Amino acid sequence: MILIAPSLLSADFTRIADAVRTVEKAGADLIHVDVMDGHFVPALTFGPGLVAALKKITSLPLDVHLMVDNPADMIPPFVESGADWVSIHVEATPHLHRDLASIRAASRKAGVVLNPATPLSALEAILPEADFILLMTVNPGKGSQPFIEASHERIRRLQGMIRDRGLSTLIEIDGGINLKNFERLCRDGAQVFVAGNAVFGAPDPAEAVRTMREIAARKDGR
Ligand code: DX5
Ligand code: ZN
Repeated sequence: MILIAPSLLSADFTRIADAVRTVEKAGADLIHVDVMDGHFVPALTFGPGLVAALKKITSLPLDVHLMVDNPADMIPPFVESGADWVSIHVEATPHLHRDLASIRAASRKAGVVLNPATPLSALEAILPEADFILLMTVNPGKGSQPFIEASHERIRRLQGMIRDRGLSTLIEIDGGINLKNFERLCRDGAQVFVAGNAVFGAPDPAEAVRTMREIAARKDGR
């Protein structure tokens, strides 16, 4: 099962509601919300207020990617605002186990994010505690960067780790995903695809989502 998660980072911020409605109608599965705090990454983006506003205009789950230092402080406000999936960076917290537990205690999906340079071995102890793993396929902080090719191998290795342990942890990928590499990434074992520029930078965002859906359907055998 492949899930498509357009990232609002590349949407026109003056028309966010339209962007959400467009991709929802075209068959997106999640809305990816990139939260940046100006510390963990230089940019500053969205807060819980936006999540609460989005909640009113879409029934799609909101996938909140916390690129913030001290994520423990940010989990409660985003959960209260209606975040459905919450992911935190392994590089940003010394208390990953506790932070994931607090997301799960709120009955939300808890995800662990790995930067491109962070070894998969960082997941060794924590894998059973996560609903999904988000592999960054670019360095976090901005949209429209080129896909890091070594990520193909990382996705396959992560899939192996999950399989060996008999888990059903989802693999999400984020950064540089486009209509050209989508199919290969499906074959690698990625299941949740974040796409910013490939959707909202396209002349017709709805068409871009529909094309991803078609590629995914071929892979799913539907
Ligand atoms: C990057 C963000 C991504 C970003 C991806 O730090 O986490 O979600 O929106 O953008 P594209 O798909 O344009 O690489
Ligand atoms: Zn993201």
